[in-house]
Amino acid sequence: MHLVAFHGYPLDRQIWAPLASRAAAGALGPITAVFAPDFRGRGTSLRPAAPVHAMSLLADDMAEEIAHAVPSGEPFLLAGLSMGGYVAFEFLKRHAGRFRGRISGLALFDTKASADDDAGRVGRKAAIEAIRKDGIEAALSAMLPKLLARRAKGGPVEQTARAMILATPPATAMADLAGLALRDEGFEVLSGWERPLLVAVGDEDAIAPPSDAEAMTAVAGRAPWVKLLTVPGAGHLVPLEQPDEAAAGLVALAETSSR
Ligand code: MLT
Repeated sequence: MHLVAFHGYPLDRQIWAPLASRAAAGALGPITAVFAPDFRGRGTSLRPAAPVHAMSLLADDMAEEIAHAVPSGEPFLLAGLSMGGYVAFEFLKRHAGRFRGRISGLALFDTKASADDDAGRVGRKAAIEAIRKDGIEAALSAMLPKLLARRAKGGPVEQTARAMILATPPATAMADLAGLALRDEGFEVLSGWERPLLVAVGDEDAIAPPSDAEAMTAVAGRAPWVKLLTVPGAGHLVPLEQPDEAAAGLVALAETSSR
């Protein structure tokens, strides 16, 4: 089974690298391959940044990527971390028909189903202006202190996160922020979801805290299997900070989904 995984802001596909290497080593149970594309405007994406990265635009891009990369007819698990979770909601709203029967399960990491409130949108505007003025360092200083659990600070995971943020072109980060401010809620998708669902969150996640994870599982009344995994010693980047916990959650999801 494939795992299709969407990354967060202002990051890239490398947040999924610890899981991709486990899958390649045969250590991810039924998951034999991880497809983690970069969203447009960064990393390995061939698509240029747009002025605004609406979650619907990124979801449409991902539908094309999946159609090319995952052999037709084969099942996959869909995973999203933070912004990647918002894109997953939009993907399910817009493309569930096209991939009918192939999406076996959903894994949401460090994300939330609520939209930005007015204060959140004002904050996005300020963040865009800060990047326009000071470049991607403004995103680094705004995001890095909030991304990781205390134990990861100053260590190799922080170096990885720092490098990902600094590699994000400023225009891409600004377009992401504009899209994040406009996004819709995902609660309706979750309340209609009828496949297994994993919701994983770091117990120190300062951006999408455990209360957001609980709110998502609370509405998923039609899912036959729901697992809320609160990961100790992790912040907003569970797959990088605690890859063994993330892997165990995904293996359980994959085993349930392939039954
Ligand atoms: C992310 O990690 O993708 C972002 O922090 C999401 C957000 O700011 O809402």
